[in-house]
Amino acid sequence: MTLIKAIHLSKDYQVQEVQTPALRDVNLSIEDGDFCGIIGPSGSGKSTLLYCLSGLEKPSSGQCLVMGKDLSEYKETEIADLRQSTIGFVFQFYNLVPNLTVFENMLFPQIVAHKIDEKRVEALLELVNMAKYRNYFPNQLSGGMQQRVAIARAIVNEPKIIFADEPTGNLDSKSGREVMELLSRLNLDLKITVILVTHNPDHLDYCSRKIELRDGSIVNDQPESI
Ligand SMILES: Nc1ncnc2c1ncn2[C@@H]1O[C@H](COP(=O)(O)OP(=O)(O)OP(=O)(O)O)[C@@H](O)[C@H]1O
Ligand SMILES: [Mg+2]
Repeated sequence: MTLIKAIHLSKDYQVQEVQTPALRDVNLSIEDGDFCGIIGPSGSGKSTLLYCLSGLEKPSSGQCLVMGKDLSEYKETEIADLRQSTIGFVFQFYNLVPNLTVFENMLFPQIVAHKIDEKRVEALLELVNMAKYRNYFPNQLSGGMQQRVAIARAIVNEPKIIFADEPTGNLDSKSGREVMELLSRLNLDLKITVILVTHNPDHLDYCSRKIELRDGSIVNDQPESI
């Protein structure tokens, strides 16, 4: 099943008089169960692609379809619902709420979605090996630990898709590998589709598909040989 589709997707950013083309005529289908690794030089449009595919940014032209429906046809509230329930996000700098504990950070998306399930929070903290840190605050944890909590938080409302924008970009190589192994388990065991941006070519080994961007265009899209 196709979960996400980009059709002739282009995005320009305008800052005062200067117009920057960030994406140019991108065509892409992401299937249920894919683990896509997106690579490309800085400024090639990787983050912009994630933001357009997830409804955080609007395309300048072309379409983004999520589960068969054009994002431009979703109402604002429907896009908010999509982000609460269907899509999980993981960022380079974790984005945990600093004055909430690990446990409270995990509960937060459930509170927003009116779907509190403390047992699920406990189980996910076990899954990412962070259960004993449930009462710690983010600044009392290492980067790798914070990212594992951020990943657990991203899946707390059982999304079908995780978007991860350089989740290992700020980590040492060992913590980076742990994060990649965790994402791989979510993909293989929990059948979550993962769309990952990375600068590290070694991480493509975890992916089922590699997409290379250059100057806003896809220049390479192929299954990774594992
Ligand atoms: N909010 C914005 N306003 C103006 N220009 C932007 C904005 N966001 C991105 N751009 C421009 O769009 C282009 C693509 O940026 P993008 O952030 O998608 O690249 P990237 O591949 O994610 O780079 P990096 O690897 O450095 O994160 C760049 O030229 C960037 O300067
Ligand atoms: Mg980026």
